[in-house]
Amino acid sequence: MTYIEELKDHDGQEVTLKGWVYNRRSSKNLEFIELRDGTGICQCVISREDVADEVWESASELTQESSAELTGRVIKDERSIGGYELHVTNLTAIQITEDYPITPKEHGVDFLMENRHLWLRSRRQWAAMRVRNQIIYAIHRFFQDKGFLQLDAPIFTSNAAEGTTTLFETDYFEEKAYLTQSGQLYAEAMAMAHGKVYTFGPTFRAEKSKTRRHLTEFWMIEPEMAFYDLTMNMDLAEEMIKSIISRILERCENELEVLERDVTVLKQAVKNRFHRITYSEAVELLKSDKTSDLLDKMKSDRESEADKLKSEQAEIEKERGSAKKWRKAQIDQRIREIQIRQNQIEEDLRNIPVWRKSATEFEWGSDFGGSDETLLTMQFDAPLIIHRYPAEVKAFYMKRDPEQQELALAMDLLAPEGYGEIIGGSQREDSFEELKKRIQEHNLPEEVFSWYLDLRRYGSVPHSGFGLGLERTVAWICGLDHVRETIPFPRMLGRLTP
Ligand code: 4AD
Ligand code: MG
Repeated sequence: MTYIEELKDHDGQEVTLKGWVYNRRSSKNLEFIELRDGTGICQCVISREDVADEVWESASELTQESSAELTGRVIKDERSIGGYELHVTNLTAIQITEDYPITPKEHGVDFLMENRHLWLRSRRQWAAMRVRNQIIYAIHRFFQDKGFLQLDAPIFTSNAAEGTTTLFETDYFEEKAYLTQSGQLYAEAMAMAHGKVYTFGPTFRAEKSKTRRHLTEFWMIEPEMAFYDLTMNMDLAEEMIKSIISRILERCENELEVLERDVTVLKQAVKNRFHRITYSEAVELLKSDKTSDLLDKMKSDRESEADKLKSEQAEIEKERGSAKKWRKAQIDQRIREIQIRQNQIEEDLRNIPVWRKSATEFEWGSDFGGSDETLLTMQFDAPLIIHRYPAEVKAFYMKRDPEQQELALAMDLLAPEGYGEIIGGSQREDSFEELKKRIQEHNLPEEVFSWYLDLRRYGSVPHSGFGLGLERTVAWICGLDHVRETIPFPRMLGRLTP
C-alpha cells in the first residue's frame, strides 16, 4: 500500500491506494474519483476501455465517503490536485456509504458542529488539524532544543490560579477540587528544581462568554524560567512565535493553500521585530487621532467595497437569465460569496461606532476589550507586545514594577488581523511577604497556597514565564475566524457532543 503523499517517489509505477471517495465525477467513458487517504487527495482516472467490466461497474457504485482500494499507474500531471494522478487498473470497494450527511453543498455551522466527527474529514478541517499538529511539534522542538524540561501539571487542583470566577468545580472524594486553569504554579515549583521548564496540557475555564476566542477546554503551553526578568521573558516569547511560524511556512505550504491563507502577515512576523509598548502608551494610542483616522478609513473602505459588490451582483444577476447551466452554477456560487461578504461588511459597519466609543472612552486602569486589541494591532506590521499593565486587572502572582507600584510586570502578546491576545505572561512576585499580602488581598484561601509560598521561603529567585494559547495560535496561523475549528472536538458554552 502506498500513501498519496508518497506518490512523487513512484512516478510511472503501479501502486495501490486505500482511502475514501472525496468526490466523483463521471462522463460516458471516464470516471474521475478524488480519493483521500489522510495524507492527501489524488485524482484517480478510470477509463472504460482500459478496465474490466466489473471494475467499471464498481466504480460507478462508489458514493461520497465510500471506502475503497484502487490500483493503478502513477502519472505526473501538473494540473492535477497534488501533481499526480492514478490511472486505475483495478478497484475494490470496501464499504459503500449511503446518505453521507455532509455534502458539497453549503451547510450551517450548527449542523457541521453536530457532525464534527465527520466534518473533520473535509479538506479545510483536515488542513487545519495538520497545521495544529505541526505547531505542536514546532513548540516541543523549540523548547527541547533550548534545554527546557517538559512537565505535566496536575489537572485536579485545590486552588485557583487565574481568578475564582472561571473555575470548574468537581467533587474529589467529598473534597472540593477544580479543573486546572493553568499549570503555572506547578511549573514554578519545577523551575526551581530544573531551571527552565514548560507545561503542555489541557486547561479549563468556565467561560460563560460566547466569543470567537473562548473555549472552556483549551491547550496551553507554559514555559517558566528561573533567573529571567520581564525583558528576557518577552524576548523568549518573540523568539518562540517566530520559530513556530517559520516552521509552519516551511512545512505546511499545501495546508495553508487549502485554507486560502494569505501568508504575507506571517512572513512579516518572522522578519520584523515585534513592537513593544507599555499599557499606558497603548491607552494613549487607542484614544489618539491615529485610531480615529483608522476607523474613518475602515468605514469608507467597507462602504466602497459594499458598493462594488452590489454592482457586481446586479450585473451577474442580469447575465444569469440567459446563461448556460455551468455558468448559472458559477453565478450562484459567486452570489453566495457576495452575500457572505456583504453580511460581514454590514456587521463591521454596525460595529465601527461601538469600537470607536470603546476606544475614545477607554479609561486608564481597565482591561482592553477585543475591539481595542484589534485597533491597536492594526497599527503595526508585526505582532504587538504590551507590557506593564495596571496590577488591578492582572493575577495575584505578578511582580509589581519597582518604578511604579501600581503596575504589574506583565506582558500580553497580541496577534495581528484581529486575533488579539495569544500570550499572557509576567515576571513573578518573588518576595514571600509581598506574595502573602497579595493572596490575602485577593481573598484566596491561604492554606492551599502554602506550598506555593514555600517557593519564596526556600531559595527564592527572580523568575518569569508565560502561557501561549494553542487554539488561538492555530486560529491566527490558519486564518480561521473561530477557535471551534482549531481543535478536533471543541468544548464551548453549549457544546459537549460529539
Ligand atoms: O492570560 P492567561 O489567562 O494566562 C495564564 O493562564 C498564565 N497562568 C500563563 C502564564 O503566565 N504561565 O492565559 C494564557 C493564554 C491566553 O493568552 C490565551 O491565548 C489562552 O491562554 N486562553 C484561552 N484560549 C482559549 N479559550 C480560553 N477561554 C482562553 N483563556 C486563555
Ligand atoms: Mg490573559
